[in-house]
Amino acid sequence: MNESESLQLAEELAVRGRGDVEPNPVVGAVVLSGDEVVGRGWHRAFGGAHAEVEALLDAGDRARGATVCVTLEPCSTTGKTGACTEALLAAGVARVVVGCLDPAPQHAGRGLELLRQAGVSVEVVDSKVSAKLIASFAETLGRRRPHVFAKWAMSIEGAIAPKDRQPTKLSGPEAQAMVHDWRASADAILVGVGTVLADDPRLTVRGDAVSLRPLRRVILDPHLRTPPACTVVSTALETPTWVMTDEQADEQAAETLEQHGACVLRVPSGPNWTEAVLDALALQGVRRLLVEGGSYTLGRLMESGLVDQVATFLTPVCLGPEALPAVDGCPLSGLTLPDGESLSGTAPATQAAARRVAERLRLQDVRVDQVGGDILLRGFRTTVSSV
Ligand SMILES: NC(=O)c1ccc[n+]([C@@H]2O[C@H](COP(=O)([O-])OP(=O)(O)OC[C@H]3O[C@@H](n4cnc5c(N)ncnc54)[C@H](OP(=O)(O)O)[C@@H]3O)[C@@H](O)[C@H]2O)c1
Repeated sequence: MNESESLQLAEELAVRGRGDVEPNPVVGAVVLSGDEVVGRGWHRAFGGAHAEVEALLDAGDRARGATVCVTLEPCSTTGKTGACTEALLAAGVARVVVGCLDPAPQHAGRGLELLRQAGVSVEVVDSKVSAKLIASFAETLGRRRPHVFAKWAMSIEGAIAPKDRQPTKLSGPEAQAMVHDWRASADAILVGVGTVLADDPRLTVRGDAVSLRPLRRVILDPHLRTPPACTVVSTALETPTWVMTDEQADEQAAETLEQHGACVLRVPSGPNWTEAVLDALALQGVRRLLVEGGSYTLGRLMESGLVDQVATFLTPVCLGPEALPAVDGCPLSGLTLPDGESLSGTAPATQAAARRVAERLRLQDVRVDQVGGDILLRGFRTTVSSV
């Protein structure tokens, strides 16, 4: 295999990280010794090893004197993992071929310069495919908001809870194991207070999944209805719980929650409260946020165009009349007739909200898999799919 073919292989490997690494870019790397591929790697999980490090590990001693083809310029600063330039130098590689430069102006060219100064031959290929792989990452470089990954399980009619809101486990054990993996690579899990009141969830990483970073739990609760005795508050010393409220929320209720271990964060109320909450979470260091519902919370986030990634398990059950729609604002059977009337008699205001959600969320790079007895549909707000 030559360098050009190796870079192409690295680009194909990069896509495997899609959905698990954001807001980081997807990156792939190949170690080439002569014309033989001796190592392959890709960035697999947010907070996990970078592609170059994975490929070097795969190559072992055969990386010495080899060429590394990588889709994105190696990082030169130590973040969650060590600098990739150091790993490349420690492995003794002779040449590094990159698909595109780091899009951050303060880093662009820096990694390559360090390698060059250390005697490594470097080349930038300016591959269109490599550039496309990082396009959405490059767009969001200056953005403060976390990457929002929304997931839920729903019945075949698109509902997430029965009329009586009795806690109902919809998806099977295989789907739940996946959710624990997703939780493990998130900085925080967010739900609305309605979900805390209905289900008293734990929102922790369990089973075989291992957290890659300290996990925080976030409750959207403008009126401080979170019960101090609920599980996420009573276990807040082990896994921190932040209750996001506004500046008008009751002082006494806030104090009680804090006495029970929760941290109450006030975000000024206003029409853009949801967005302001995400900004506040970003300031607290949340970069990857897993949103687990419920209906109202998903509706407001989607309506505001704040959801970057979606995963929904379609479960072969029906929840019956007046079940709760997965996304508030998109009522069940809310089909609109050509003359503007709704089949379900939905109020025009709700129809407008449904239209806004529909306009804001058109999934790209869609993938459908069967997971145990459930169907998993995944997609993104932006695409890298021309790769
Ligand atoms: N199947 C699934 O995957 C799944 C997942 C999660 C939940 N659920 C189910 O969903 C149900 C709960 O859903 P839900 O819609 O009733 O409640 P929810 O979305 O969990 O919480 C809604 C409440 O949270 C506050 N809130 C959330 N987002 C807000 C925003 N952007 N701006 C202002 N306030 C916000 C509001 O509190 P205030 O009203 O106090 O202002 C709102 O009423 C439960 O039955 C639960 O079992 C199912």
